[in-house]
Amino acid sequence: MTAKPVVHYELPSDLQPDRLPRHVAVIMDGNGRWAKQRGLPRVMGHRRGVDTLKQLLRCCRDWGIEALTAYAFSTENWGRPIQEVDFLMTLFERVLRQELNEMMQEDVRIRFVGNLTSLPESLQQEISGAMVQTQDNQGISFTVATNYGGRQEIVQAARAIARAVQAGLLEPEHITEAVFSQYLYTAEICDPDLLIRTSGEMRISNFLLWQLAYAEMYVTETLWPDFNVAEFHQAVSAYQQRDRRFGKVKS
Ligand code: FPP
Repeated sequence: MTAKPVVHYELPSDLQPDRLPRHVAVIMDGNGRWAKQRGLPRVMGHRRGVDTLKQLLRCCRDWGIEALTAYAFSTENWGRPIQEVDFLMTLFERVLRQELNEMMQEDVRIRFVGNLTSLPESLQQEISGAMVQTQDNQGISFTVATNYGGRQEIVQAARAIARAVQAGLLEPEHITEAVFSQYLYTAEICDPDLLIRTSGEMRISNFLLWQLAYAEMYVTETLWPDFNVAEFHQAVSAYQQRDRRFGKVKS
């Protein structure tokens, strides 16, 4: 059996290694339109979208980006036709099973965030297995938002904080932004510096509402299955030209 050639992505020479985003978040939009343009069923767009995501993950890791978060399924996506929802659940499960060895080899730590208890039982098992198996990997932190909603995440954090106050474990005066962040799904991950959205829509769509407070946004007309390393290069290049002031004035 011949081994698959390992692709390695060099950091392009025009990008400054000390000014890379530490954490990139992506809204992978346009899979359905990509498929429709080719006369294919929508789900073929999702299948191709997985290849795009794999390539981006590898590129981020090779360039030295610490974290990538992808919006795979929102709390609103249950409203899609049942066949498409079923396809996506099966796809997540299959991809996880197929890619686990490679994630171990490539030192990827995978986490899933969202209300995972409503996902199919077999997918939940696959998710917890992959999260445990990869928990010591240090190459890149890869987070998949599945059955995720930003408002829902904030509400569950508020409930957990209320319970802690009720139990006498926390004083209301001690609830700071830093404390609040610890009750979010992303407690262990730094906030995204760069949010990329494909397919031209100018919306956040309930994604990481708290965490994206100071992220730079990059929107491209390209549909997700066509988003490649050259496009990512452009996104990071645009990010490096931004003047990030975090609400302050330049000194
Ligand atoms: C949005 O395009 C895309 C999704 C709702 C699904 C994205 C999921 C993947 C690419 C699979 C990721 C897999 C793993 C295991 C992480 P759309 O269907 O809304 O496109 P449209 O706007 O053109 O209809």
